[in-house]
Amino acid sequence: MHFDILTLFPEIFRGPLDESILKRAQESGRLTVALHNIRDYASGKHRITDDLPYGGGGGMVMKPEPIFAAVEAILAGETGVPIILLSPQGRLFTQAVAVELARYRRIVLICGRYEGVDERVREHLATDEISIGDYVLTGGELAALVIVDAVTRLLPGVLGDPGATFDDSHARGLLEGPHYTRPAVFRGWAVPEVLLSGNHAAIVRWRREQALRRTFERRPDLLERAELTAQDREFLARLKREKADTDGYKPLGPHKEPPLEHVSKSS
Ligand code: ADE
Repeated sequence: MHFDILTLFPEIFRGPLDESILKRAQESGRLTVALHNIRDYASGKHRITDDLPYGGGGGMVMKPEPIFAAVEAILAGETGVPIILLSPQGRLFTQAVAVELARYRRIVLICGRYEGVDERVREHLATDEISIGDYVLTGGELAALVIVDAVTRLLPGVLGDPGATFDDSHARGLLEGPHYTRPAVFRGWAVPEVLLSGNHAAIVRWRREQALRRTFERRPDLLERAELTAQDREFLARLKREKADTDGYKPLGPHKEPPLEHVSKSS
């Protein structure tokens, strides 16, 4: 996979791309990343990349010319390459979108800054617009890194184990359940017995139920789209009955609620 990333701040990418799995993916040739400084494509002595918004208002808007010039020079006529604008107004990035993007050979990512990007980039250059979540970042750079990371780990050979992404949270519509490693007892907290039982079928069922329970408790919205067996549905029905029985009683675990003094008065 080759990413072309257009940014005014290429240095932001250095640390994350130079460590761990992203670093190894590049060393093995499975991932290549070209960082393009948009300023290099701006004209004039001052290489201006932003300007005041027409109609007034605060902030600056990124000019279209350097962004068009950069994409056109980089692609050199190549077609079929997704040109993705990162912005809080884009479609939401999910695991399904990561899987979709992992099928491409090459992707262009445009990182917006300031108050925004001239609308003509969105309308006449970008083929897609993606947001990584319902919050506003200072620019698209961190969003681009999120996409590079989530897509790269899906590429064949990037993670050692070929089945490593099969049980990911979200890969099959459910959150992942808990994981444990040694010691079997830590500070008096024991690993669930079933995991030490050697009974493979029981372990598979337990893991499935843990994933269902966690999804039910934290992200019930995901259950509407998850692929569920009859056995899963029975288990969920049991959880619903349990919840109905205990509603109104909420046990407090450690760190479940912030101490009151940390709660902002305005919220
Ligand atoms: N730029 C600013 N906020 C963003 C977000 N949430 N997703 C993608 N790009 C952004």
